[in-house]
Amino acid sequence: MKIIITGAGGQLGYDLKRVLSPKHEVIAWDKAKLDVSQEHEVMQRIVTERPDVVVHAAAYTNVDRAESEKEAAYHVNALGALHLANACLIVGAKLVYVSTDYVFDGTKRSPYDETDTPNPLNSYGQSKLLGEKFVAMTCRRHFIVRTSWLYGQKGTNFVTKVLEKARTNATLSIVDDQFGSPTYCLDLAIFIRSLIETDHYGLYHASNQGVCSRYEFAKHILEAAGMAHISLNAVPTHAFPPAPAERPMYTAFAHKAMQSSGFARMRDWKSALDFFLQVEYYETAVKAKKVTDIW
Ligand SMILES: NC(=O)c1ccc[n+]([C@@H]2O[C@H](COP(=O)([O-])OP(=O)(O)OC[C@H]3O[C@@H](n4cnc5c(N)ncnc54)[C@H](OP(=O)(O)O)[C@@H]3O)[C@@H](O)[C@H]2O)c1
Repeated sequence: MKIIITGAGGQLGYDLKRVLSPKHEVIAWDKAKLDVSQEHEVMQRIVTERPDVVVHAAAYTNVDRAESEKEAAYHVNALGALHLANACLIVGAKLVYVSTDYVFDGTKRSPYDETDTPNPLNSYGQSKLLGEKFVAMTCRRHFIVRTSWLYGQKGTNFVTKVLEKARTNATLSIVDDQFGSPTYCLDLAIFIRSLIETDHYGLYHASNQGVCSRYEFAKHILEAAGMAHISLNAVPTHAFPPAPAERPMYTAFAHKAMQSSGFARMRDWKSALDFFLQVEYYETAVKAKKVTDIW
């Protein structure tokens, strides 16, 4: 298949590129190559390339800044998705829209499945939810893939932040009242690869299996990286100054649609994190000559 990836310069985009090629013909567009908020440009580029599939991983992802830049977040996350959905409809392409656990308010306190009603608490979540609606209304051949707590080899994420902080601090304070499902970008990209080879369209919750708090996540990161000597303080969210964007306190996922459509569920979050740290992160650190500091 001929597959276009948007947001190819991001952390998920990086893993999508390496998982989808060489089996498929992959055209990877970062923001410089395609700004998804530009309606005419999106239509013209998609009509020219006539892909079989578009995997839309581009997004305005700065959750806090989205509060003061609401319009920018809506242009990219909501209207960008609409432009791609319109273009995919014209050329008959399948569209994967990657969405977020932040469409939920976190009050359920048990894993969210695809039938639960979204109620985003912040502008980022609202703009992503509107993007979902545009995609669902416009392009019949769509997959909406909600994911959560992403980390991977490229970019800055919770895992790399904890390791970076641990290099210079003997003690870290991590919140123990926010719960979710960590997701390894590589595993998500592998799921998306199997998804696009089917016509099981619709909404999916896709994360590594299991639930943890940010504190438990950080504890396992340090243990798996051989840094268990760093002391961790479990603190409530209100111990920190309030962030501009309110976060949902619980966004773990149940994977009902994956199971009912016959897809293998992803491995559990600890196994995925161990693999990432012991194989991928280690290799990157060696290349960057940071390994003596962190291992
Ligand atoms: N990260 C998470 O924890 C998380 C959790 C749940 C869902 N998601 C979703 O997962 C997807 C992938 O996220 P990610 O973590 O890979 O994010 P990321 O690393 O921030 O990648 C997003 C990419 O989109 C690009 N982009 C921004 N505006 C654009 C525009 N107008 N046109 C084209 N590209 C644009 C960004 O470029 P610049 O950096 O140059 O702006 C960036 O390279 C997103 O849909 C996100 O909403 C992420």
